[in-house]
Amino acid sequence: MRIGVLTSGGDCPGLNAVIRSVVHRAVVDHGDEVIGFHDGWKGLLEADYRKLDLDAVGGILARGGTILGSSRVQPAHLRDGVERARGHVADLGLDAIIPIGGEGTLKAANLLSEAGLPIVGVPKTIDNDIASTDVTFGFDTAVGVATEALDRLKTTAESHQRVLIVEVMGRHTGWIALHSGMAAGAHAIVVPERPFDIDELTALVGKRFSAGKKFAIVVVAEGAKPREGSMQFEQGAKDIYGHERFAGVATQLSGELEQRLGKEARPVILGHVQRGGTPTAYDRVLATRFGWHAVEAAHRGEFGMLTALRGTDIVMVPLAEAVETLKTVPAERYAEAECVL
Ligand code: F6P
Repeated sequence: MRIGVLTSGGDCPGLNAVIRSVVHRAVVDHGDEVIGFHDGWKGLLEADYRKLDLDAVGGILARGGTILGSSRVQPAHLRDGVERARGHVADLGLDAIIPIGGEGTLKAANLLSEAGLPIVGVPKTIDNDIASTDVTFGFDTAVGVATEALDRLKTTAESHQRVLIVEVMGRHTGWIALHSGMAAGAHAIVVPERPFDIDELTALVGKRFSAGKKFAIVVVAEGAKPREGSMQFEQGAKDIYGHERFAGVATQLSGELEQRLGKEARPVILGHVQRGGTPTAYDRVLATRFGWHAVEAAHRGEFGMLTALRGTDIVMVPLAEAVETLKTVPAERYAEAECVL
């Protein structure tokens, strides 16, 4: 069998572990040939690739990022490129393509799968918002990085008797905010799933100071928004693709909280540090298991499917189902965290 693998969308700790696992299982156990496309879908559209053998994946298990490079592809670009992709798959004699990616990548994968290309997807994102899998690799690493940062920020917040508003990643969902906030004992957690009321947030933080505490840590997901009519919030500027970005939620919130509480406040934006560096042991294991199962699915001819973790098992789920909706933080999960703020 000849398999093409690619990594697309925002990078994520554990991508290299999947690539390594695919190569080991395919090349060593099945006698397959594996090629890796460069920079995500772009590599497939431009037939830009290299051969992946055991030497190529030596020593990459613990390495962050992706040895293949990544890019965000615009859906329209890919839609126009379906025939080009089909042509390259035929010319290269590929029997399977394993794209490793998040929401956007999986939508693109589904599009190509519906066009008849032999696709087996592998989900990844630090955001943990792919509904079909209990967990995505990268999430554990990101939560660990954010938790360590929060632990560190507590001591400086305490020394200066400040409110620190710490912005973590999560454009659509608040999983990183929820888990790191719980793990670090934050005093308020703000997630996109629950638009915040600025009066309630001020009261929550203020109650802490009234009780004699000297500092507060507020964790806020980058996609958090105020409840309608609660606070004037500036829209984020658009990026070069026209997506709203750079909203600076922590900056806006800290200005408002400083005024309302009469306490010094500072924004801290953790940003891409949450995505960089070595994956945790948990993420390495999950990524390795996904790689193994993706190759097995390809050998069974199970295309149009995605590897997923359900409980402790890896199962295959239809790609079409996986792209239907995002996994948001349920009210009960938020209540569990709220109880210990
Ligand atoms: O989807 C992963 C993610 O890290 C999000 O949490 C974040 O909003 C986004 O990617 C950032 O994307 P970029 O690296 O393109 O700025």
